[in-house]
Amino acid sequence: MGWRPRDLELGHLPFLQGKGIANYLSDPVFRSRLATPPEESVEAMQMAVLAWVGMFGNHSVRAADVARLREWTDLPIAVKGVVHPDDARAVVDSGASGVVVSNHGGRQVDGAIAALDALPAVAAAVGDRASVLLDSGIRCGADVIKALALGADAVLYGRPWVYGLGVAGEEGVRHALRMLLADLDITLGLAGFASVAEVDASALRSVTG
Ligand SMILES: Cc1cc2nc3c(=O)[nH]c(=O)nc-3n(C[C@H](O)[C@H](O)[C@H](O)COP(=O)(O)O)c2cc1C
Repeated sequence: MGWRPRDLELGHLPFLQGKGIANYLSDPVFRSRLATPPEESVEAMQMAVLAWVGMFGNHSVRAADVARLREWTDLPIAVKGVVHPDDARAVVDSGASGVVVSNHGGRQVDGAIAALDALPAVAAAVGDRASVLLDSGIRCGADVIKALALGADAVLYGRPWVYGLGVAGEEGVRHALRMLLADLDITLGLAGFASVAEVDASALRSVTG
């Protein structure tokens, strides 16, 4: 986790109450290592949180470990948070089927490179060997077109659908997605493209150099 002064001042880390770690708490292997199901008591949840603390943010994981994951599953493996072409090459060499170019929504390293700025070099490094996805800052149709034009095969949509969820539940999520898709549809037409498949670097004009 990044250094977040506001969260530190407020002592705000809901994970420590078992909130926001459902991907662990619902995992059968994680649960099989607990003496008591976390739902059973406050103490059982505290033990589960302690087990989670021991696993989250494992600094020893390296790009080469993707090869081990590759042996365990036939599912596609995408590595997220890649902004350097060398890292992209390393994880694809180890068997990743995709990379997600991302600075995690700008929530980790202050002043980190924007995902969109990192995208062209990563896309060039990966070529056709794996899928290139992008997130961090996708908010409107033009954002999607720019990412596709700079080499992304697809984009991921971060906080806007969560805001929709907060405002209006499931219908709010649908609405957030519909707005993005409608905006994309219209902007594609206005830019002279019949579909996303047609979008390439010709959509852009370079303002550098
Ligand atoms: C509340 C919150 C929690 C997140 N937790 C994680 C996480 O545990 N691991 C991770 O890789 N990214 C995490 N992210 C980043 C998102 O996966 C995603 O990269 C980011 O939200 C995309 O940027 P955007 O919201 O600007 O579209 C989190 C984002 C938010 C808003």
